[in-house]
Amino acid sequence: MSAFSQSENNSQDSLAARLKIDYLLDFQAIEKDDIQEVINGLNNEQKSIPARYFYDSQGSQLFEDICQLPEYYPTRTEASIIKQYALEIVKQTQAIELVELGSGSSTKTRYFFDAYQQLNIPLYYTPVDVSDSILKTSANQLLADYPQLKIQGKVATYHQALQQLSNNFLGKRIIIFLGSSIGNFNSLKCDRFINQLRSALNSQDYFLLGIDLQKPRKILEAAYNDAQGVTAAFNLNMLQHLNHRFAGNFKLDLFKHEAIYNQTEHQIEMYLISQQAQTVTLSNLNLTIELKKEEKILTEISRKFDLDKMEQYLSDRNLNVIKTYTDARQWFGLLLVQLS
Ligand code: TRP
Repeated sequence: MSAFSQSENNSQDSLAARLKIDYLLDFQAIEKDDIQEVINGLNNEQKSIPARYFYDSQGSQLFEDICQLPEYYPTRTEASIIKQYALEIVKQTQAIELVELGSGSSTKTRYFFDAYQQLNIPLYYTPVDVSDSILKTSANQLLADYPQLKIQGKVATYHQALQQLSNNFLGKRIIIFLGSSIGNFNSLKCDRFINQLRSALNSQDYFLLGIDLQKPRKILEAAYNDAQGVTAAFNLNMLQHLNHRFAGNFKLDLFKHEAIYNQTEHQIEMYLISQQAQTVTLSNLNLTIELKKEEKILTEISRKFDLDKMEQYLSDRNLNVIKTYTDARQWFGLLLVQLS
């Protein structure tokens, strides 16, 4: 073996020694829940498809593309806030473990790793994602780039991960939940999530929450109706995913993407609109549905928040906002929270 491949091996070994991945997804149970949720959603008066069907391999790639779009301001704005305050947040929290719910490619989180590196503080990173491929790929890249980092990833739902955290304590922890993903929960699911989160927090721990803020409708609607049609492709891809998964016969060209801002509910609503009366069958589910011309299938909500109301909502649930960070235009907010 040449000296070169020897040292390659050593560096591989040391990467592996710093990486552990737990698989918590129960595929059997997910399968059952999945099927019931799809059937219920498509049988409802207001038809809907669960948002997780965005994320097959094609959909995950399209989502990465969305984050780069000129109209899609949230990723860029949140990243700029994190970049500006990461060092301050790390100094304030002094956490030794950083847990990220829905870590994806962990791109924005790198600003925190930079801060830990700059302060020469070692860190345990616990990325949580339902996609094991994105988790593994980004974990290996991070280990190569940050020699002080140790990673213990979880392929898990948020719920499973939060439950496990209560048993497993390394030291002071910060749990981060970015991208305004909390806005993709309706109010019932949001309440449930906050309860689970509170149970996972110890008294010295922190929670960092990214939320997209209310702003003029034009800007919001453009962000979810980009000129290049990437969001439309992302939305339509859901039907392709269902076709593959359940032997369906959705014809993508008979549907149109729509995203509207519901000003009363303060939320973007994404729909697929049937362009004609049609019948669709998902053979593996024994399910046939009738769609009227112009009938809408709801695929996602993205709630837009008011900072004061969110602080009140959290404090009503015994979560105290220690510090709020925002950008100059107040388009996005980052809330640093502790148990009160
Ligand atoms: N949570 C982000 C948002 O609501 C990302 C996201 C979820 C998204 N679903 C989406 C972005 C659908 C575009 C389209 O903005």
